[in-house]
Amino acid sequence: MKVAVIGTGYVGLTTGVALAQIGHDVVCIDVDERKIASLRQGKAPFFEPFLADALDANRSRLYYTTSIKEGLVHGDVAFLAVGTPQNPNGSANLTYLHQAFASALSVLEKKASSTLLVNKCTAPVGTTESLSQEIAARGLSDQINLASNPEFLRQGCALSDNLYPNRLVLGGNAPAHETLLRLYAPIINQTFHLPAHLPRPQGLQQVPAFLVNTRTAELAKYAANAFLAMKISFINEVANMADLVEADVIQVADIIGADVRIGRAFLNAGIGYGGSCFPKDTLALRHMADTHGYHFKLLSAVIEVNNAQCIRVVEKLRDALGELRGKTIAVLGLTFKPGTDDLREAPSIPMIYHLLLEGANIRAHDPVAGDQARFVLPHKVKLCAEVQDTLEGADAVFIVTEWPLYQKLTPEVLKEKMRGNVVVDGRNCLDPRLFAGQMRYIGVGRGLKPE
Ligand code: UGA
Repeated sequence: MKVAVIGTGYVGLTTGVALAQIGHDVVCIDVDERKIASLRQGKAPFFEPFLADALDANRSRLYYTTSIKEGLVHGDVAFLAVGTPQNPNGSANLTYLHQAFASALSVLEKKASSTLLVNKCTAPVGTTESLSQEIAARGLSDQINLASNPEFLRQGCALSDNLYPNRLVLGGNAPAHETLLRLYAPIINQTFHLPAHLPRPQGLQQVPAFLVNTRTAELAKYAANAFLAMKISFINEVANMADLVEADVIQVADIIGADVRIGRAFLNAGIGYGGSCFPKDTLALRHMADTHGYHFKLLSAVIEVNNAQCIRVVEKLRDALGELRGKTIAVLGLTFKPGTDDLREAPSIPMIYHLLLEGANIRAHDPVAGDQARFVLPHKVKLCAEVQDTLEGADAVFIVTEWPLYQKLTPEVLKEKMRGNVVVDGRNCLDPRLFAGQMRYIGVGRGLKPE
């Protein structure tokens, strides 16, 4: 099929590449000329594992343009995949979505054949329906049908999440369901040509597709992210308890996670969740509930626990050092998680500001986002190109993002450059036994006490 995707951010571009991988002809449209120019040269505009390979492998089925007119003429199906950032009151800002929709409409109303316009953006319940009403009011319902098809991909695994999803959510009327089932048939039946670097997960033969209305699809997206955020805040509270009662949160997570009704995923305690999705989507869902006169109490608690968690871990560091004024802290990892260069809502940022407020000197390192960090961190923060340089003269090392290279750190390596002996493992990614008798290891909820 011929597909157009408006927006070449994480969701838009990786969706476009995945659709090309399963055999469709895809036009990626973006107003940003630099992004399109870089894509035309085969260069990915952001860091995502395997994206560069996939762009190259599918180059005969991928086209790029800044012209919405040129792009949409091509499509049987057109995706709206633009950002829905956060408004100051927590609600989702739909400005880009409305702009993209208006531009799409101005082209599609003149097009001879009909188009299925698919909203992939995370947008409040009722958004797709209100766009449909606009189409109807303009007498364009025969030419343009609308669907909601939310995305569940994770940064860092975007391509495999696109090609091997746990489920597809297809929101819309019967003709929309039929078109989307045809579009996604190679994914549903797992019949596409497998990309070289992305083996199919064992046992995956069929992907379930949920055929629902647009409101259910939209709510399911928010509910999924809110539930995962809730698991994280829950285990962080258990970790805070474990610190008090000298139990080990990792073992607790293994034990409760072995129950298939609970599941082990997203039970890793640490400094809290960040990124462009969980913080924004939990706030937007709570705002949506408020506008309907419903107080989503559990969600408020999830958000509150998360906001407090990184500061709580900073307090553990302060307790260990006596005070932070004049102390040098080596911060390892700045991105909101490994495998991405994204610093949006990264817990590292409020944490570093907090440390600076308390008078600490900060040396920081990130294997991917070191250069970009210059734009979001104050100049006082010394950004280092190498881990060893970051550790120079540090009183404590604070692991904020569990990049694999930090997981290899040993007391010997740390002690070579550090002045002090405190290791704060904000992601529980090191083995505390390695540090016993050599350095003071502080994890999150790792009250391991020998029997
Ligand atoms: C998240 C969801 O996982 C995707 O399913 C969803 O499609 C996406 O948001 C979105 O709405 O677009 P992402 O933000 O890429 O994906 O990252 P996650 O892997 O979910 O991690 C989010 C945050 O939670 C990170 O800061 C991570 O460090 C933290 N986390 C995750 C924990 O603290 N503990 C865990 O056990 C898992």
